[in-house]
Amino acid sequence: ETSDIQHDAVDKGNYRHFMLKEIFEQPSVVAETLEGRIVDHQVYVETLGENATKIFEQVDALQIIACGTSYHAALVAKYWVEQYLKIPCLVEIASEYRYRDTAVIPNSLFITISQSGETADTLAALNKAKDEGYLASLTVCNSPASSMVRESDFTLLTRAGAEIGVASTKAFTAQLVSLLLLMVSIGKAKGMEKAVEQEIVDALEHLPHEIQKALDQAEAIDKLSEAFAEKQHTLFLGRGQQYPIAMEAALKLKEISYIHAEAYAAGELKHGPLALIDKEMPTVVVAPNDNLLEKLKSNVEEVRSRGGNLFVFADKSANIQDSNGITVFPVDSQYRITAPMVYTIPMQLLSYYVAVIKGTDVDQPRNLAKSVTVE
Ligand code: G6P
Repeated sequence: ETSDIQHDAVDKGNYRHFMLKEIFEQPSVVAETLEGRIVDHQVYVETLGENATKIFEQVDALQIIACGTSYHAALVAKYWVEQYLKIPCLVEIASEYRYRDTAVIPNSLFITISQSGETADTLAALNKAKDEGYLASLTVCNSPASSMVRESDFTLLTRAGAEIGVASTKAFTAQLVSLLLLMVSIGKAKGMEKAVEQEIVDALEHLPHEIQKALDQAEAIDKLSEAFAEKQHTLFLGRGQQYPIAMEAALKLKEISYIHAEAYAAGELKHGPLALIDKEMPTVVVAPNDNLLEKLKSNVEEVRSRGGNLFVFADKSANIQDSNGITVFPVDSQYRITAPMVYTIPMQLLSYYVAVIKGTDVDQPRNLAKSVTVE
């Protein structure tokens, strides 16, 4: 299997960049990550080993540690865990966690998320956690032979295959899928209702298709990207589980197009960022198709009425119309829980096409490394 992965890795196929290839691999990466882990419409908990179930039964809280894109995956998981498991899920970047005095909630599970499994800060946080009284450590990792896998009690592999582009894309989606599987696995050990599991399994099983539909919009996103290429700044807004997706979108744009981008929780606009709104700064909105939609619509209006230029990525059923200052981009996402993965796709494509227009080195952006193994 390893040699296949390496073979893929040196070959861009018909794609201009590894990043684009990796974006388009996501339907199969999701299917691969689910393989053998959903059997007969049930999440197959044994995938982590019997001992994991015993630990999961005792879990009263999660502490997740990661950096960069992996940190954004952790933030999405927090929304899922607290909604479905009703236990606290603390999320922190590794470089902070490793150097501060931390207070551990009794019966917490310590989780690291990492594509490489070698990020120095995340590894250091894992080592620090060993003396802090956690129930166990678990890593959600894309590199089977990595230090993080070796040093953790449990491993859930993300199976995204080798990722060459420095800006993480398919590894992120695979992390989200894995975290959802993990959430259900913990839930089942703690008595999650069958119907809830079914709802999540249903969403996961449809995800490769939903991602494919989002990828089919690539040409339209390519056109849209022209509106960003000349700009100095871009603001990304989201709410709820789409707020971390807005953060990830801003990170992608920064990394590969060198445009300053910032993400805000839309409800926080009035506490500062509204002062920045003008025609020169596009605002991208990741609109959820859920109970927060109405709230978000008024945030959109807050920006529009101040002369802002909005690009709203919203579900067809959201009923947001193109109007003066608002360009709506339809996203087809039927399942609420996996909507973060679906909305990620147009965000990745947008940053990619903006970078291509700007002529940056998409796969090797300046000053950045794929794996940060030194502090
Ligand atoms: C670097 C990479 C990012 C990645 C981060 C964390 O900054 O450029 O793409 O998200 O490290 O890496 P990890 O391997 O721990 O997920």
